[in-house]
Amino acid sequence: MKRARLEILVALAFTVLSVAAMAQSNGTEVYTRCIGCHKDTGLGVPGYAPPLAAHIPDVEKTPGGQTYLIQVLLYGLKGDIQVKGKRFNATMPAFADLTDEEAAAVLNRILTNWGNDKLLPKDHKAIAPVDVKARRGDKLTPEQVHALRGKLGLK
Ligand code: HEC
Repeated sequence: MKRARLEILVALAFTVLSVAAMAQSNGTEVYTRCIGCHKDTGLGVPGYAPPLAAHIPDVEKTPGGQTYLIQVLLYGLKGDIQVKGKRFNATMPAFADLTDEEAAAVLNRILTNWGNDKLLPKDHKAIAPVDVKARRGDKLTPEQVHALRGKLGLK
């Protein structure tokens, strides 16, 4: 009798855990929407889409950089930019349709994939869904996001 009860409890615990795992967004899966331009390798397309590998930590490290990353994802980006001495001048589409969880997951993915995790400061804090939610009211144009990028002081 006791044993049967224990088995039921274990089965219940597993159900709760797997439902929780399903609710959590998978950054690798969301990144499939970015692959066409930024590529599996995170190296982007020369002359078109900038690399994210060995670059996103530099953005994150600037004051306001983490907020900017959320804004690029939600509102897109249009204008002349330089990444690692190379020029890019195309348009990054907005991904406002992602849920807060999906947006946080994909941003954390690009912050840590391709060895980017090793380039982050020790006190780096992952982006939380509430951080994304807090930027939903900004309602920026891709050009306004470009102007904000100019204020980050990126080299
Ligand atoms: C259709 C192509 C395309 C897709 C799809 C795309 N991007 Fe971009 N992304 C770009 C382009 C082009 C730029 C640079 C825009 C410019 O030149 O102003 C960019 C810029 C960025 C930047 C800013 C880099 C910087 O230095 O300011 C980030 C971050 C970024 N993309 C992340 C993502 C993520 C995450 C996804 C998937 C959810 C994604 N992109 C999907 C084309 C794309």
